[in-house]
Amino acid sequence: MSGDELRFGFGQNWERYLRERFSEERVQISKEHLLRFLQVTDLRGKYVLDIGCGSGLHSLAALRAGAERIVSFDFDAHSVTATEMLRKYAGNPPNWTVLQGSILDNQFLETIDPADIVHSWGVLHHTGSMWQAVENTKPLMKPDGSLYIALYVDDPYFGLPMSFWVDVKQRYNKAGWFGTKRMEWWYFWRFHLQRNPANLPELLRQARDYKKNRGMDLYRDAVDWLGGWPFEYASVDEVKNFVCGKMGLELRNLATGQACAEYLFGFPRETR
Ligand SMILES: C[S@@+](CC[C@H](N)C(=O)[O-])C[C@H]1O[C@@H](n2cnc3c(N)ncnc32)[C@H](O)[C@@H]1O
Repeated sequence: MSGDELRFGFGQNWERYLRERFSEERVQISKEHLLRFLQVTDLRGKYVLDIGCGSGLHSLAALRAGAERIVSFDFDAHSVTATEMLRKYAGNPPNWTVLQGSILDNQFLETIDPADIVHSWGVLHHTGSMWQAVENTKPLMKPDGSLYIALYVDDPYFGLPMSFWVDVKQRYNKAGWFGTKRMEWWYFWRFHLQRNPANLPELLRQARDYKKNRGMDLYRDAVDWLGGWPFEYASVDEVKNFVCGKMGLELRNLATGQACAEYLFGFPRETR
């Protein structure tokens, strides 16, 4: 939490992810996920804009996929530091720029060149103004560009409505260090172990296999889930109606079944 308003320190969680969990294998997994969802075999010749880059893992994955240019930005100074660490790890490539800025800051956005692929995974619902943030991505797309976003869906999570999780998140962000650890234990005990220690081997298996999910880490994602605030969510239909109806884009790919739905949008082919 920082400032007067309640806001989760996403970037510190990402710095810890890099220190404790980062590996080339995870970059490779992220790269495969990125290419699969974009339905391409590589990103050669493409300029990728990564909005809310977090750890920087997925920007690095874009670099590894052959992107010609990458611009990564994040609102949180610690996320920027994390992404800069990965840029340094990658040998400070001149075609990768890391910036601090907000998708809600129009003056900042005017300094960003439109991209072939605008990528914003799990970000726009954490800005405090989700629909405005979604709308602000459109001018960042080249006329033939794509928009790849992931947003929380309004389905129950572990069988509980989002209103329950809103309350959990607010309490987590107001808690001190001890309180947050207690809530993390509670979360794993109640939802992952289902209050039964006999489920521990299954939890350990889940933790081991979790990296298959975009290279992420179960514990760091749990902290991100408990803490992630501001927080909004929308049904798939609401997102489609907004982006296709109000913003005039067309849906090219969709993946559901997780807490976040993934969407790939582009300009309607006849209007390009
Ligand atoms: C859940 S993390 C996702 C990180 C990364 N995209 C990923 O997929 O791993 C959300 C990120 O969005 C960033 N964020 C929140 N509000 C933002 C804003 N207004 N502009 C840009 N980034 C923002 C947070 O700082 C955080 O790093």
